[in-house]
Amino acid sequence: MSEKFIYDAFQKYFKEIRSRYLTEDYTEFTLRTPFENFIKSLNNNFHLTQEPKRVQQLGAPDFKAYRKASKIGYIETKDLGKNLDNELESEQIKKYKESINNIILTDYSRFILIRNNQKIFDLNLFNLPDLNNSKFTISEDKIEEFITLVDDFFGYKIPTIKSAKELAEELSKKARLLKDLAEEQLEEDLSKVENNESPSPIHYFYEGIRELIKDINIDDCADAYAQTITYGLFLSKINCTGEFKRGNTATYIPQSIGVIKRIFTNISGGFLPSNVLWIVDEIIDILNASDIKNILSEIDFRGKKDRDPFTFFYEDFLNLYDPKKRKHLGIYYTPRPVVNFIVNSVNRILKEDFNKLHGFADDDVTVLDPAVGTGTFLWIVFLVTLGELVNSGLKGLIKNKIENHILKDFYGFEILITPYIISHLKLTTVLRQWFYKFKDNDRIQVYLTNTLEPSETHGLLPFMGELTEESLAAEKIKNKPILVVLANPPYFGSSANKGEWIDNLLKKGYTRADGTKDDGYYKVDGEPLGEKNPKWLQDDYVKFIRFSQWKIDKRGEGIIGFITNHNYIDNKTFRGMRESLFNSFDRIYILNLHGSSRKGEESPNGGVDESIFGIEQGVAISIFIKNKKFKNKKVFYADLYGKQEDKFHWLDRNRVQSVKWEEVTPKPPYYLFIPMNQEVLEEYSKLSKIDEIFKEYSLSVQTHRDSFVIDFDKKRLNKKINLFRDLNFSDEYIKKNFPVKDTSSWKVKKARETVRQIKNWQNYFTKILYRPFDTRWIFYHNSVMDRTRKKYNGTYATRKHSSFSIKTTIYSRISSCLCVRCHFRIMCCFK
Ligand SMILES: C[S@@+](CC[C@H](N)C(=O)[O-])C[C@H]1O[C@@H](n2cnc3c(N)ncnc32)[C@H](O)[C@@H]1O
Repeated sequence: MSEKFIYDAFQKYFKEIRSRYLTEDYTEFTLRTPFENFIKSLNNNFHLTQEPKRVQQLGAPDFKAYRKASKIGYIETKDLGKNLDNELESEQIKKYKESINNIILTDYSRFILIRNNQKIFDLNLFNLPDLNNSKFTISEDKIEEFITLVDDFFGYKIPTIKSAKELAEELSKKARLLKDLAEEQLEEDLSKVENNESPSPIHYFYEGIRELIKDINIDDCADAYAQTITYGLFLSKINCTGEFKRGNTATYIPQSIGVIKRIFTNISGGFLPSNVLWIVDEIIDILNASDIKNILSEIDFRGKKDRDPFTFFYEDFLNLYDPKKRKHLGIYYTPRPVVNFIVNSVNRILKEDFNKLHGFADDDVTVLDPAVGTGTFLWIVFLVTLGELVNSGLKGLIKNKIENHILKDFYGFEILITPYIISHLKLTTVLRQWFYKFKDNDRIQVYLTNTLEPSETHGLLPFMGELTEESLAAEKIKNKPILVVLANPPYFGSSANKGEWIDNLLKKGYTRADGTKDDGYYKVDGEPLGEKNPKWLQDDYVKFIRFSQWKIDKRGEGIIGFITNHNYIDNKTFRGMRESLFNSFDRIYILNLHGSSRKGEESPNGGVDESIFGIEQGVAISIFIKNKKFKNKKVFYADLYGKQEDKFHWLDRNRVQSVKWEEVTPKPPYYLFIPMNQEVLEEYSKLSKIDEIFKEYSLSVQTHRDSFVIDFDKKRLNKKINLFRDLNFSDEYIKKNFPVKDTSSWKVKKARETVRQIKNWQNYFTKILYRPFDTRWIFYHNSVMDRTRKKYNGTYATRKHSSFSIKTTIYSRISSCLCVRCHFRIMCCFK
């Protein structure tokens, strides 16, 4: 192209912008076409396509840029003369910069090229005042600089992604933006639904997920959506044998993962809202630029002692995608040594106590992991089963065993989509490594379902249809007799698990297979516990233990192998639970892994005692066996203290059968599962009970949202409450920016209405003695907290004595505490 031609193209562009400027018709939209023509005129291979005008804040940038047919990046335009330095600091541009590797930001006169979140060119082709000058011409230097910028921009090629770490990084960047876009779309959809307009397909996803998690909020739903799409695309790519593009992603999702396949069928059917579509294409581009073969073998190689390769990759991904979630990764996987200990112990128990010659490999052994996460338990069960065949010289049976036993009798339930995908990915890969070729109707028996609720799906909407099938299949398994239940149930009391069915199972009990009656966890020695609010019994892990106990009781025999919070073994509130478990099972083994930083646990020799999960909560492995062959019931206990690494080492080398156990004899009224000095216990029992000493007692103020209504700083608290009252902020904004969410008994919307109506709301700030000697401020009004307990409060509002396991009794200014863990009574007085 001649220099003259190029020079003319620049002057033409300047004139067009100038004429629009002079007629004051120069919004970012009116200048789009002259800009597009200008770029095309510079090189035949450069193309721009305009995105439709955005309704939402985010959405796709204004132009997609192509070199021939290859998309190379994006251009985001702003109104002529807009301050681009300010724009660079805006949320929108920050998000684009973080997620898009090659993007130009322009106000049509200044051009900033950003590559991998770095500004690499910043050029003013002309200034706003130049537009008033009819004689102005763009200088040759500027033209040259601009041509270099444009060549660099259009010359961009996504570098080949060779390592798992790079891929995790690139995927996480796109997934983050996808999440924001999905959230924006969902918010718009919800208001559309309110106005009887049709929402986008993301709304079907939301409806579908709500079948599983009733009170899921928009943020979590958008997160599930973004992770499903990103991980689903990854899954599809690693199975892809031909060209990988949006239209065919569903083809490569195994038939066996119906829900995910359906979501992807929707995607390939053009069933994606336009504001997310472009970022999905970006993810596809990244996957296409990846050396998947190399990455997979690297992933395989990186599998560590405590984690499997896919979880490891997922950890890298989460670390970048959402570091806060990464901290909670324990939600998703169980360290391998823990799983090895449990699975190998149970394999031996099956052989020794249940006459299963080859343990898990025997055809009539059924296994369920009701909180499957990324599938570590099933993974090790698969390996132990196959190992049994190899060790017994039965290698020839492997294919048949996989087809007719592993793929038929080993089940898992999971409520969240991403771990569900990962478990399928992981378990399919294991069997493929054993040279099993999956047939069309083969599937890993892991189902997307809520273990603790009966399946009630409506099957009305596209996405829900698949979910219904999945749920119905899961329901059949819920009603099937199971011999072995293995799990690491969730640590946190999750809102997902508040259903009536499991609540009844906990409270009302049931009849066992042998006709005996179980009383539930809320009674001890046939009498109600007597506590007003035994809320620890509502913890998730208690419900999962209950579910599994019920399954084994209904069958009449079986084994449970769990790792859970260790509080239930000796905390007073759990005495009904312990009695019930003691009655159901013939052998109970408790391996207390300690590691509670909350209790400041130390090894008896004074050394450190670390959590095996890197969490604050102490944990224990529990093995429960129900088998008629045992004539008397026995409970055994052992401790494992020390560093995390040493605990792993020990667990890898031991089994229930090799542990030095101490026998304990659970006795009424506490049925403790820990060894207890009987003399101390008896002396303790002789002392007066706290509620006999005090006329009034309670747990004191229970806000259930402390971090919102309590603060050290009155001004900060005032500001929070003021914002909460402010109608200019939507409920969704408040939910996103404050630690508040709807619960069954408290709704943000309703609370905001009430707070707005409080006359003299400023008068409700008062000091609270949060813990002894720990004075803070509280907005003390029943609209924002669950229990004000005004009756017990004097000048100060008072709150629980300590953050855990201390029950406080407050009367006037005397506080008396009963430490329910160590069973010593403490009295303390403070002003
Ligand atoms: C600690 S993780 C399990 C980790 C797993 N053993 C692994 O190694 O990957 C607990 C899992 O239970 C799932 N979960 C929580 N509530 C559930 C429910 N009601 N039904 C099914 N799964 C549930 C969580 O989503 C989480 O993935």
